[in-house]
Amino acid sequence: MDYLINIKILVCFMILPPLHGSIHQDFLDPTATCKIENADCETSCRCKDGFTNVNLKCLAKVRGVCSNDTDCIPNAECSSSCICKTGFTSNSNNTECRVKVGVECNITAGQRCIKNAICGVTNGTGDRCTCGEGYTMYRDNKLCSGNVGATCTEADDCIEHADCKEKACTCGTLYVSAADNLTCIGYVDAHCNASSTTCVTDAECISGRCSCKDGYYGDKTCAKKVAGLAILIWAIVVIVVGGFFVALVVLVVVIKCCCARRRPEKLTESAEPTK
Ligand SMILES: *[C@@H]1O[C@H](CO)[C@@H](O)[C@H](O)[C@H]1NC(C)=O
Ligand SMILES: *[C@@H]1O[C@H](CO)[C@@H](O)[C@H](O)[C@H]1NC(C)=O
Ligand SMILES: *[C@@H]1O[C@H](CO)[C@@H](O)[C@H](O)[C@H]1NC(C)=O
Ligand SMILES: *[C@@H]1O[C@H](CO)[C@@H](O)[C@H](O)[C@H]1NC(C)=O
Ligand SMILES: *[C@@H]1O[C@H](CO)[C@@H](O)[C@H](O)[C@H]1NC(C)=O
Ligand SMILES: *[C@@H]1O[C@H](CO)[C@@H](O)[C@H](O)[C@H]1NC(C)=O
Repeated sequence: MDYLINIKILVCFMILPPLHGSIHQDFLDPTATCKIENADCETSCRCKDGFTNVNLKCLAKVRGVCSNDTDCIPNAECSSSCICKTGFTSNSNNTECRVKVGVECNITAGQRCIKNAICGVTNGTGDRCTCGEGYTMYRDNKLCSGNVGATCTEADDCIEHADCKEKACTCGTLYVSAADNLTCIGYVDAHCNASSTTCVTDAECISGRCSCKDGYYGDKTCAKKVAGLAILIWAIVVIVVGGFFVALVVLVVVIKCCCARRRPEKLTESAEPTK
């Protein structure tokens, strides 16, 4: 038994020296350090919350605690907490500072463009980050979103109100693509954001839903109410009045038929008991 444990310890230390050697021990989650007890060898170490593994070092993520620039992830600096340097922006989980669109990038220096942007030569001034094909820049150069029809892997890649269906950005159920494919326009009842969503013609975003403007009505698109209401009133009048006459005629016919048929029946019925 001891012999086996010793072999395991030996194997652990042969596999783990890079981890033991370069990770700041105080950055390690004490419950997830490389354990050897019970002769079980955990080959991976986890960084504490707020830190992320960069080349086997636990460095502070964006907004993480720091006292020196070197405590922070690459391309970030320490300013009471870690912040991305000018020209960079953090990814969604704060584990990387990525180059914004329009800013110079240097892949060999470990600089990556934001998601869905590529580091390419632009107008002879060196490599700059540019949104990929079919993608448009948003939020002060910090976001590249796929237009309708753009290749995607998840809904996050696509413009607002679009989903990633069969690897292409597609407007959601209650939305329709604008002619230029740059926006998904909300039909009546679609969820909307007053500052960013376009609703169909004659609709506006009210309390988070696309709704027809005053004087307009509709289930999907909006039409002028006056004409619509008049048609509706006429339809009701026609149905009510027409229905009334039809009912009256039917009633008269029924009454006439019943009265004409019942009399002979009653005569034969009343004739029987006398037998
Ligand atoms: C920050 O880190 C650098 C490089 O490791 C070191 O030279 C410097 O003294 C550190 N500054 C402080 C305030 O710890
Ligand atoms: C952080 O998010 C990126 C995608 O934006 C992902 O590739 C990476 O695995 C994530 N890292 C962690 C530690 O969750
Ligand atoms: C890119 O980064 C590498 C490594 O830091 C450096 O040697 C090179 O000069 C940089 N290129 C440009 C164009 O700045
Ligand atoms: C072209 O380079 C100039 C000068 O660096 C810059 O101001 C401009 O934004 C660049 N244009 C594009 C499309 O990147
Ligand atoms: C819009 O996207 C569709 C595919 O979804 C494509 O067929 C069409 O050519 C695109 N139109 C424009 C103006 O890009
Ligand atoms: C609406 O859009 C703006 C700008 O894109 C954004 O800042 C805001 O958080 C959005 N509001 C909601 C409720 O999604």
